[in-house]
Amino acid sequence: MILYFSATGNGKYIAEQIAAETDDKAISIVDCIREGKYLFKDEKILGIITPTYFWRLPRIVTEFLEKFTIENCKYTFLLASYGTSTGQLVAMAREILKRKGQKFDAYYSVIMPDTWTPIFNLSNKERVERWLNKGKAQLKTVIENIKLKRCGDFTKKKLPKFVAALPSAFMYATERKTKNLSVNKDLCIGCKLCEKKCPVGAIIMEGEHPVWKDEECEMCLGCLHRCPKFAISYGSGRSNKHGQYKNPYTKI
Ligand SMILES: Cc1cc2nc3c(=O)[nH]c(=O)nc-3n(C[C@H](O)[C@H](O)[C@H](O)COP(=O)(O)O)c2cc1C
Ligand code: SF4
Ligand code: SF4
Repeated sequence: MILYFSATGNGKYIAEQIAAETDDKAISIVDCIREGKYLFKDEKILGIITPTYFWRLPRIVTEFLEKFTIENCKYTFLLASYGTSTGQLVAMAREILKRKGQKFDAYYSVIMPDTWTPIFNLSNKERVERWLNKGKAQLKTVIENIKLKRCGDFTKKKLPKFVAALPSAFMYATERKTKNLSVNKDLCIGCKLCEKKCPVGAIIMEGEHPVWKDEECEMCLGCLHRCPKFAISYGSGRSNKHGQYKNPYTKI
């Protein structure tokens, strides 16, 4: 079973590819949380696919790992998709599992277009395609390793704790505030997609337009990237010039 958390499809695509190559299924972590499914037993493969957020694990994945139990699974791994650096993500995951007396057999990473568009520019199709091609090549190697049930840490672009820990904690605390998100009411058509798809139910519709009811959210940027009218922005329009992105090889 390949479990994924994915806002813009990179992780879903990776999970689906691994599942197809290993004759397994890909399942959303959000669905597991909604169904209260935290015990994973007798699986031939148990894989977790997560994006990197601010050099660390997203909060939703952290909480899932803290609650979940693996029993009698033949091969277990965690894979981080990332745009530039996985930072301290693997160290964090390792620590959470260690506290529970559990561990993964292997850790992997796959590069994908960086969806943090307040900084990264995904408006250039050729650039995005080059990024995707690099990711596809890495994924091919990772799948070969998974089929061989290799053990160890094969993660790329890690950062030491003394470099990553402080900026990462600071960014995670400040950048996830929903006051950073806003809607352009002239563009919004009130389709409710943002409300329907938010993984943590942080959006409600007030009249025809979304409002963010929680002070913090995962800041997955799924609402910004999926909006059919590109009506959602981050910061004071920092993200507007950097385009929207959805992984082209899956449906999200
Ligand atoms: C809030 C946020 C923070 C991010 N932080 C990082 C980061 O620290 N390092 C990195 O390499 N990529 C970072 N990214 C990029 C994502 O990890 C990457 O694009 C990932 O493949 C997205 O996966 P998804 O399409 O499955 O949601 C960040 C993206 C978001 C939305
Ligand atoms: S997805 Fe976009 S257009 Fe649809 S309601 Fe949300 S902001 Fe408005
Ligand atoms: S409000 Fe938007 S950015 Fe925040 S968790 Fe929901 S979909 Fe993701």
